Amino acid sequence: MTIRVSEEGTILRLTLDRADKKNALTNEMYAALTAQLKRAEQDDSIRVVLIDAEGDVFCAGNDLNDFAAIASGQLRRDEIKSFEFLHALARATCPIVTAVQGSAVGIGVTLLLHSDIAVVADDAKLSVPFVDLGLVPEAGSSVLLPLRVGHARAFEMVALGKQILGTEAVAIGLANACVPGVEVRERATAYAKQLASRPPGALRATKRLMRDASALDAVIDREITVFAERLTSPETAQALQAFAQRQKR
Ligand code: COA
Repeated sequence: MTIRVSEEGTILRLTLDRADKKNALTNEMYAALTAQLKRAEQDDSIRVVLIDAEGDVFCAGNDLNDFAAIASGQLRRDEIKSFEFLHALARATCPIVTAVQGSAVGIGVTLLLHSDIAVVADDAKLSVPFVDLGLVPEAGSSVLLPLRVGHARAFEMVALGKQILGTEAVAIGLANACVPGVEVRERATAYAKQLASRPPGALRATKRLMRDASALDAVIDREITVFAERLTSPETAQALQAFAQRQKR
């Protein structure tokens, strides 16, 4: 398991701790994250979930070797843990703060759509190159991303893999604040503390009102159906093969 869990007062910090693989999320990591999100829902002493990461890259997205394992049938559909994680994100009422340094790809970016406060490095590079991988948007991003940044920008990001910088992420409403990379975690922690000092019942009730969890669940389910089909497509096979070859070099 490569998620580090620590409690700082009423803040539950979940740290992606797989820096050597750029914090690409494995099946086990998704399971661990889901368990912690569920715990935060049940435990009133947790007021904020703070997600941060070790190393120079926040998150390189889903582990592509796991995608390959799903495509080859090594990992069965009922064993895939990311789906449950996406639903747990959609249903979360505990506020989530995210700290993004370096690059963020795929779920590393769509996670921001479920974060109530996101702090990014000025020079962070954010991309969601789903189509280049033969895939489709996930985590509700087919609806949430256009809603947040407008269809024109969202489509360019998803379909053409257009990368945006942290500064632009703030300008288009994808993140709350951008700071120099070394200050990202500190600023996110300050935000988490601010949230933790607010009346927790009102905070959770507010988040519940501001997000339509059941509508999001439906969008995520729709995306999962198409995403799972795409994972076994020749287009995705080609993209995964190119990645595997790059790894061997
Ligand atoms: N899945 C599995 N392993 C990954 C990974 C992923 N998504 N992203 C990076 N890694 C591994 C690399 O294979 C490499 O492993 P190795 O040291 O055993 O060869 C290691 O992490 C370092 O990656 P590298 O590409 O050398 O780092 P970088 O700093 O040059 O680039 C990224 C960082 C994130 C830009 C780049 O790794 C990348 O584009 N990754 C793939 C992103 C992606 O397509 N994700 C899926 C989105 S749905």
